Amino acid sequence: MAEPALRIEGLEVDFPTREGVVHAVRGLDLSLAAGEVLGIVGESGSGKSVTALATMGLLPKSARVRGSIRFRGQEILGKKEKELTHLRGTGIAMIFQDPMTSLNPVYTIGWQIAEAIRAHQDVSKDEARERAVELLAEVGIPNPAERVDNYPHEFSGGMRQRAVIAIGMANDPAVILADEPTTALDVTVQAQVLDSLKAALRETGAGLVLITHDLGVIAGLADRVLVMYAGRAVEVGTAEDVFYRPSMPYTLGLLASLPRLDSHGTDRLRQIPGAPPSMLGERSGCPFAPRCPLATDTCREREPDLAAVPPASGDHRAACHYAESVGRGDHGLVFSDGVVDNVIA
Ligand SMILES: Nc1ncnc2c1ncn2[C@@H]1O[C@H](COP(=O)(O)OP(=O)(O)O)[C@@H](O)[C@H]1O
Ligand SMILES: [Mg+2]
Repeated sequence: MAEPALRIEGLEVDFPTREGVVHAVRGLDLSLAAGEVLGIVGESGSGKSVTALATMGLLPKSARVRGSIRFRGQEILGKKEKELTHLRGTGIAMIFQDPMTSLNPVYTIGWQIAEAIRAHQDVSKDEARERAVELLAEVGIPNPAERVDNYPHEFSGGMRQRAVIAIGMANDPAVILADEPTTALDVTVQAQVLDSLKAALRETGAGLVLITHDLGVIAGLADRVLVMYAGRAVEVGTAEDVFYRPSMPYTLGLLASLPRLDSHGTDRLRQIPGAPPSMLGERSGCPFAPRCPLATDTCREREPDLAAVPPASGDHRAACHYAESVGRGDHGLVFSDGVVDNVIA
């Protein structure tokens, strides 16, 4: 089988803090094939950004990182800063939630795209500028030949995020990591930015890891979905597996939080009751048990492995002692209207 574009195995990230050790990522595995879109979803604090930053080698020095992160078969963890700089430019591009973390306010958009190109490609200033105009056109910026000379503050938030995507595309990366790229934007602008991301994938053939707290963002875009909770993958599968046969109650909760197209906007946005656990110190049992309407003593005692959901179809896996019956839909609507509606058959 071909080497995946990105493969993470047994990733553990700890942060020693004054209050104790924060276990931000606990034994995460994932793989991204060339050209594939993997959606990572989970509430705030589940370890999504830390995973992305570990992949880019951008975690603070205090972080303790173990496991393996391979880009096209090559180990990234423990690489020297110089090698990582090259990799970040040409192999893996990262797009952050706030475009202003990636844009410098004192240079024009075009200059910044051209610099990104010239850092890794032997082209003249004029050629780089021309390519910058093309890239702005590809991500849907109107009048790119004029807009290329604008400063970041002359762009709207959505346009800035599209410019950042253009920078990400500049050196034809094999992998794009986008961490909540639309979270700071209005819903209408979100759709435009997602279109720009799709254009980036078309143009570069890159694989995309799309990180979001909102399952709605990845619906229709992700080939595969990884649901994260408390630093772990708690469900993985094809988008179809996860959207139509969710087998971990947490995934059901995320799905119930989705605004429904058929609700005419009158429904309140539903939320999973309770809050994610603190990642400080050691704990036992399923981390979702305190919020799970199906939790039993078994759940409170033993953390379930991420295991194949029977009947095993492809690589659909879930970390739930009751994955099989949850996946069959035996428990009906587990979360509804923010109130537990537990109808165990
Ligand atoms: N530099 C840091 N020092 C200590 N804890 C951190 C640091 N960065 C992240 N964390 C903690 O790691 C956990 C995962 O964070 P993060 O990956 O940012 O979550 P999210 O899924 O919202 O992106 C959180 O509990 C967060 O507080
Ligand atoms: Mg984050």
